[in-house]
Order: sequence, then structure tokens, then C-alpha cells
Amino acid sequence: MSLPIMDDEFLTNPYPAYQALQSGGPVHRMLLPSGLRVWAVVSYEEARTALTHPSLSKDFDASVQLGYFDREMTEGGIPRAEHSSVGQHMLNMDPPHHTRLRKLVNKALTVRSVKKLEPVIEAISSELLDATEAVAAASPDGSVDLVAEYTSRFPVRVLGELLGIDEEHFPVLVGLTAAIMSDDNENARDNMALFGKHITEMIARKRERPGEDLVSSLIQARDEEERLSDVELVSTVFLMVVAGYETTVNMIGHGLRALLNHPEQLAALRDDHSLIPGANEEFLRYEGPGNRATLRFATEPFELGGVTIGTGEYVSVLLGSANRDGTQFVCPHQLDVRRSPTGHLGFGHGVHYCVGAPLARLELEIALRHLLTRYPDIELAVPDSELRWRRSFMMQGLERLPVRLSKG
Ligand code: HEM
Repeated sequence: MSLPIMDDEFLTNPYPAYQALQSGGPVHRMLLPSGLRVWAVVSYEEARTALTHPSLSKDFDASVQLGYFDREMTEGGIPRAEHSSVGQHMLNMDPPHHTRLRKLVNKALTVRSVKKLEPVIEAISSELLDATEAVAAASPDGSVDLVAEYTSRFPVRVLGELLGIDEEHFPVLVGLTAAIMSDDNENARDNMALFGKHITEMIARKRERPGEDLVSSLIQARDEEERLSDVELVSTVFLMVVAGYETTVNMIGHGLRALLNHPEQLAALRDDHSLIPGANEEFLRYEGPGNRATLRFATEPFELGGVTIGTGEYVSVLLGSANRDGTQFVCPHQLDVRRSPTGHLGFGHGVHYCVGAPLARLELEIALRHLLTRYPDIELAVPDSELRWRRSFMMQGLERLPVRLSKG
């Protein structure tokens, strides 16, 4: 039997496809673009259940060693990218190792800790918007690409502050992150190795000149307390960069684009900034940057949404679909910045719930507040239909977001 493939066409506008799938049941057999057979979970309730199910494991390496990966890969499929030098991190582990590694970064990412970064984040955003304005002023039609000038620069600078990474590393890390997120597995393998090498060198330099930052505290946990291994140290820094960068870039872009297409909601936010935090939750529900959660696999057979998931079978939870499930959210395809979309799955759910959520929320809030305060008349500089999406199965984001900061 041929299985539906989550290919480019599917991802160009996944929402009608999600709706059709939901009406046929909550869990479906599907093929990933790589050729891996998975169970795709498309409805809200089953998605939440899957994200905390005791029979689902995140220990991907174990599933490979047990032969499940080769068994579930269809003929002619794309081989898995080796990532052992950067893959020993919390998102590829179950408790207790997951808990051990998460604890090492959690303290730096609580609401209270990230609040201390607020003045720095405000300053970074203001500086980048000054530069964005200069580019707009020099352009013949007053337009500027917000992705190039602002959204892609902002989160990497913030991560630099949190992790203690010098600016000279940013272009390399940004390039490597984009390469890894692409669907080109051959390329991803080489880039993961390069990523590991680059981070190892960065850590060596940081060891000589430690600071008040997260990488220094991870090095201390490694060297003085032996709470993680060398490869776990490199992998954890890798995860923080990869998980913290593109997600935030794309979320700011998606949120702003959604607002520019809903002028009445933009006006409401401009007039009342207290609506911004709630609006950001709605953007995460309406169109988050990640199509799906990372893969899980079954350690024993279990029932989910009327199907039996067998031992060693993979499960892909489609967060974007669950967040548009009409049984959970009223009029799910409507953007409504005043709704409070409690329980959305934009940051996941369960023990792997995004540990960076407090930082991401703060960045989103500052970005939106600055943009709406400085540019009350901001508008798209091209029709929405001309915007192009950079899509990978994992992540989706705008290639460019040309805007005019003020009415021409
Ligand atoms: C809008 C921005 C963001 C979104 C939408 C987002 C989304 C997510 C999601 C859905 C997961 C769970 C994946 C799964 O269960 O398979 C996750 C986990 C994670 N995120 Fe985020 N994220 C964002 C920003 C950040 C930031 C800024 C950081 C770090 C500074 C970060 C670090 C992490 C880490 C380390 C994990 C793994 C947690 C664990 O395994 O316990 N994320 N994120």
C-alpha cells in the first residue's frame, strides 16, 4: 500500500491536508520525505497523549542499534545522518539522563533568570532596528527585508549573550544551523561533523577565559563536578544553538506576517501593548515554526487513537495540525490575538517541553513591542502571495519579509 508522503507540496500549505487527515482519524501511517515510515499524530488529544506516553522513547540511537530504523526505512530512502559527536543531548534522551542534562541548563533559562537579560535584549533589538532603518532609508522605494536585517540577526545575538559566544562565531553557526535544518541528509551529516568541531574549539577557548555565561557553567559542571561527559557538553551547546536560533527567527517572522495580513488585529496590539504576550501565544498556535516534534519510537506495543503502534515503530507528532484541531480551539483557522490559546503545543508538552520557552517569549515580546512602537504604519512591501517560504520538514520560515516601515 502506498503511503501519503509529507512532501514539499504537503508542506507548502499543510493546513487543508491536516484538516482532511483529522477527519479521517487522529493517527495515520505516513512516509517522511526521507522515506522513513512513521505514525503521524494529527489530532490534539492524541498529540498530547503521545508527547507524554510511557511507551514512547526519545533514545533515537537505541532505536537504530535495535535495527528499528533500517526496518522502518523504505527501499531507496535517505540514510540517516550520523550525528554521534553532537547527538548526545537531552532531546535524544529519556529520564534519568534527560533530567540530568536538562537541570544543567534549566537554571539559566527560568523566567527569573531571563528577566535579567531583558535590558541587554532591548538594547540588541534597538541597535538592530537603527541599522534596519538606515537600510530602508537608503533603498529607492523605502523597503527593507526584515528577515535579513532584523529577525535573523536578533536571536543569534541574544544566544551569544546567554551562552557567552563571541560575535565572530555567529556567521559560521548560523550557516551550519541552516544546513542541518535542510532536508538534505548527506549535507547534514558533513555539517554536523563541522558543527561539532567548531563547538569543540569554542569550548577550548572558553576554558581558558571563562565568564558569567552558560557555556562556562557547563564547562564547570564537566571539569569540576563530572556531571556530564565531553561529548554531552559539545552536544548540549549544539542543541542550545540549533533549538534556540531558527525557531525564534521564524516565529518573529510568522507572527509579524500574520499581523500585517490582519490590520485590525495589528491596530489592537499597537493601541494596547498588554495584548502582546497573549498574541504571541496565539502566533505559536496559529503558525509555529516547527511542523512537528522530533521523532519518538515505541518500546512496546500500545493503542493510540484507534490504532496499535508496534514495538520499534516511529511516531511523528504534527504540532501544527494539533494546534488547528477544532475540538480543542474554536474556529482554529482564524487568527485571534485576543483568544487565550491555553494548552497549545507550540512549545511541545511533557518532559521535553521547550526549556527555552521563557527566553523565546521574552524575545518575541520585545521584538513585537519595538516594531509596533517604532513603526505604527509598518506594511508589507510586496503582496503576501509573493512571499517565499524556506521549508524543511522540521522547520518552516520566510526567506524574506520585505516591508515598508512607514507609509510611502
Ligand atoms: C519560538 C521559539 C521556540 C519554539 C517554537 C520552540 C519549540 C520547541 C519544541 C516544540 C520543543 C519540543 C520538541 C520535542 O518534544 O520533540 C522544544 C524543545 C527544546 N527547546 Fe525550544 N523552541 C523555541 C525556542 C527555544 C530557545 C530560545 C531555546 C534555547 C535558548 C530552546 C531550546 C530548546 C531545548 C534545549 C529543547 C529540548 C528540551 C528537552 O528535551 O527537554 N528553544 N522547543
